[in-house]
Amino acid sequence: MKQSASTKILAIETSCDDTCIAIFEIRNSKFEILSNVISSQVKLHSKYGGVYPTLAKREHQRNLISVLSRALKKASLLKNPKSKILISKPKIAEQSSLRGRQILNSKSQILNSILEREPELLKQTLSFLKKHRKPNIDAIALTVGPGLEPCLWVGVNFAKALSCFWDLPIVRVNHIEAHIFANFVGSNSKFKIQNSKLFPAICLVVSGGHTQLILMRGLGRYKILGETRDDAAGECFDKAARILGLGYPGGPIVAKMATKIKNPRSRASSLRGRQKSKIKNIKLPRPMIYQKNYDFSFSGLKTAVLYQYQKSKIKNLPQPIPTAHAQGRNSIWQKYKQEMCYEVQQAIIDVLIHKTLKAAKDFKVKTIILGGGVAANSELRKQFKSNIQHLSPNIQYLIPNIQFCTDNAVMVGVAGYFHWLQGESACWEKIRAEANLRIK
Ligand code: KG4
Ligand code: ZN
Repeated sequence: MKQSASTKILAIETSCDDTCIAIFEIRNSKFEILSNVISSQVKLHSKYGGVYPTLAKREHQRNLISVLSRALKKASLLKNPKSKILISKPKIAEQSSLRGRQILNSKSQILNSILEREPELLKQTLSFLKKHRKPNIDAIALTVGPGLEPCLWVGVNFAKALSCFWDLPIVRVNHIEAHIFANFVGSNSKFKIQNSKLFPAICLVVSGGHTQLILMRGLGRYKILGETRDDAAGECFDKAARILGLGYPGGPIVAKMATKIKNPRSRASSLRGRQKSKIKNIKLPRPMIYQKNYDFSFSGLKTAVLYQYQKSKIKNLPQPIPTAHAQGRNSIWQKYKQEMCYEVQQAIIDVLIHKTLKAAKDFKVKTIILGGGVAANSELRKQFKSNIQHLSPNIQYLIPNIQFCTDNAVMVGVAGYFHWLQGESACWEKIRAEANLRIK
């Protein structure tokens, strides 16, 4: 186990459509986030109502150097240009600068091969590395999977280039585990989480790409109990929003629209698992809710939204301009969409809560842990809390701070630091993207 007085980790995350780099320092067993930069591609992908992998890859290539510069600058680690290094003895200076140039040339050649498929990123990276000195960083934590393969590769190749040039070890991070570790961002960095206190735990990771129920027996010890057979929960939010013409990403928009529906019954019945919607004309299925397994399926729910929407009589009304803002506040369309959003959100929440609580009971867990972009949903957070209390007040409930639910590099750094403490770093030559990586 490695641990010194102060350790600085640079974390890189490019598994989907956010280019993220964070730097944090671990000093006296405390995490301090020095910088947390996220370059979002939402505007680009909103045109398509979802993430377009080749476009996302291109954006990562364009953004990485600027995100890195901002992260280093914010952390006060962007070192002065190399030309400013003053060496007093001219002869030694000549020799060392010659040696330095040779090393630089041979490393530049390696970088050429690492980033040969990313010419734009290569150009920017070489120019950046020639201009700036190695920052005071101990290791790079990197998301290697699961995720969109083209996107993962950009981050992987970039991390390899930095690792080779700066002689830094890389710690491979599983994106799903990072979503779980988002819960430990503020905790003691020695991970003095008493296993007997928190574990076993059930983790529900719900994002745009994944919906998995995981049994966690300790830090770094996982077993997938079930997962979605088709669409992820976040994908269902996104697709429902797209059908309703509300924009992208759908989760936050659907959640906001749903708040307009005042339903006093929602609170009362939330203690009883399945929620019966008060909405008379919109009823959506709760797919697989009562099946005796831990799997999910959300594509049928999305299709039900589509059919209901097409079938609806109000379809015959003049079409509104399909953006959330352009709708007249009191229009029947607005009301209909609010009700649909309320119902689709509640259908997703019902299934997620029912399955998670079933697993919690079956495995007699001490803790329920949420993670992933959908865990930012306030109604989901609230209803989980009341249902867990109802099931057993002794079960602990961990949810990340909202800003760490959606993709970010801080969570990658925290998971990476945990594995670094276990001595799990690797040389850049061994690192590759693993789009279908499974947590275990
Ligand atoms: O974890 P994440 O940032 O990326 C993946 O790993 O996929 O999750 C993004 C997903 C999107 O589908 C988005 O619509 C959903 O998380 N999301 C939400 C909310 N905020 C983001 N879903 C429901 N309610 C929210 N407030
Ligand atoms: Zn994610």
